[in-house]
Amino acid sequence: MSQQHSDALVFFGATGDLAYKKIFPALQAMVKRGTLNVPVIGVAKAGWGLDQLKARAKDSLEKHGGLDPAAWEKLSLLLRYVDGDYSDPATFVAVRQALGSAERPAHYLAIPPSLFETVVEQLVQTGCAKGARIIVEKPFGHDLASAQELNRILLSSFPESSIFRIDHYLAKGPVHNMVSFRFSNSFLEPLWNRDHIESVQITMAEDFGVQGRGAFYDQTGAIRDVIQNHIFQVMSNLAMECPARHDSESMRDEKVKVLKAIPAIDPKNVVRGQFVGYLNEKGVAPNSKVETFAALQLEIKSWRWDGVPFYIRAGKNLPVTCMEVMGRLRKPPMTNMIEGEVQQNYMRFRLSPEVTAAMGVSAASPEGPGERQTVELVASRHPRPEEMEAYERVLTDAMAGDATLFARQDYVEEAWRIVDPVLKAETAVYPYEPHTWGPQEVEERIVPPGGWDEPIAEEPEDFRVVVRQPAQLVASKT
Ligand code: BG6
Repeated sequence: MSQQHSDALVFFGATGDLAYKKIFPALQAMVKRGTLNVPVIGVAKAGWGLDQLKARAKDSLEKHGGLDPAAWEKLSLLLRYVDGDYSDPATFVAVRQALGSAERPAHYLAIPPSLFETVVEQLVQTGCAKGARIIVEKPFGHDLASAQELNRILLSSFPESSIFRIDHYLAKGPVHNMVSFRFSNSFLEPLWNRDHIESVQITMAEDFGVQGRGAFYDQTGAIRDVIQNHIFQVMSNLAMECPARHDSESMRDEKVKVLKAIPAIDPKNVVRGQFVGYLNEKGVAPNSKVETFAALQLEIKSWRWDGVPFYIRAGKNLPVTCMEVMGRLRKPPMTNMIEGEVQQNYMRFRLSPEVTAAMGVSAASPEGPGERQTVELVASRHPRPEEMEAYERVLTDAMAGDATLFARQDYVEEAWRIVDPVLKAETAVYPYEPHTWGPQEVEERIVPPGGWDEPIAEEPEDFRVVVRQPAQLVASKT
């Protein structure tokens, strides 16, 4: 695979929401860090000129992360704009002209997948695809068959090594660092398997609703929006074996092996929910059966994990916003020899908004003889402003040709295979009140041994030891 740097960035969908919220801030950050110094060509059909694109970019920066005058000045000199319809060859002739002497452009399709085929065809016909990389946004299809079709379209014109399928979760530092954390701490791996782990839970909770994206969300739902992609990436990093070599393919091979070991989810192991009030959102069908919450159970039939249930829960309008993993250890033997009730040990990893690794241990309580409590040994920190945002990371890596943080063809198809029966089953959707942990049916049907973890809203800053009380963590020492 060529590791040469792309010498131009073309982004389709330049006037869209994603560009406004994520892409312009990422581009400014890249300029500031010195990783972007090539023409950036925005393409859209809006009847705009370059000045309007620049005004939009400036506004985006002011609203999302702040405008850095020096970086913005450099970025505005790199910006170009092509206005036109994606089905009109003249648009792509203009793109080729704007590319000037660039020979290795990166084309970023920040557009709905239904337009991929048209754009790819035009890129090929006008010579824009020559020497190029292609970066594609999620959602990558809406089920297994459509993902296979998108892969067919892309692979008919680009080799796999030039295709970069974005899942911005993979580019979040704490998600990616999970792998190095696991394999650089020798106390962890001997425990992190079926011999010691009883169950694993992954919760992705958001305390807000669909935020004006009703029309998109109503075609998507929680399983497609975050479980099949973001949560599966976290799960693969948690469950994979150590790669034999430190290169993108070795890493991606191990992740695919995890997914291959997961049987397709049985719809009876899923509870879907919809928050009360969702039907009043703009763009949502009045009788929509789309889930804004899902809880499910699956298994990984591998040597390491066979017999360990994995529980996944994700939803909008839940009590908190966080991504948290809870791995409960089996109870030790002979607990009747110990005074007081021995609670299970666990490992808790919080990947956002704070970064936490915590170990739950059973200790004698100061409350009195015979009393025990779970104490957490915690390392936790809040994110720092200078940390790289996921979109900066994906664009930087794609332009440098590093595919580690991108989903490979076999990975995306395996991920769809696992959820496909659930997407087709049209199981019941149960209502839940906003700011609760989903519908009551979850507590009846999808219950991890020891119950669901209850993530707190925010980890205290600079804390080391906390006492775990039912459904709550209380800082005891700082
Ligand atoms: C997006 C989903 O992919 O990820 C959103 O479409 C979700 O619904 C978002 O809110 C979560 O990403 P982050 O980076 O804000 O945690």
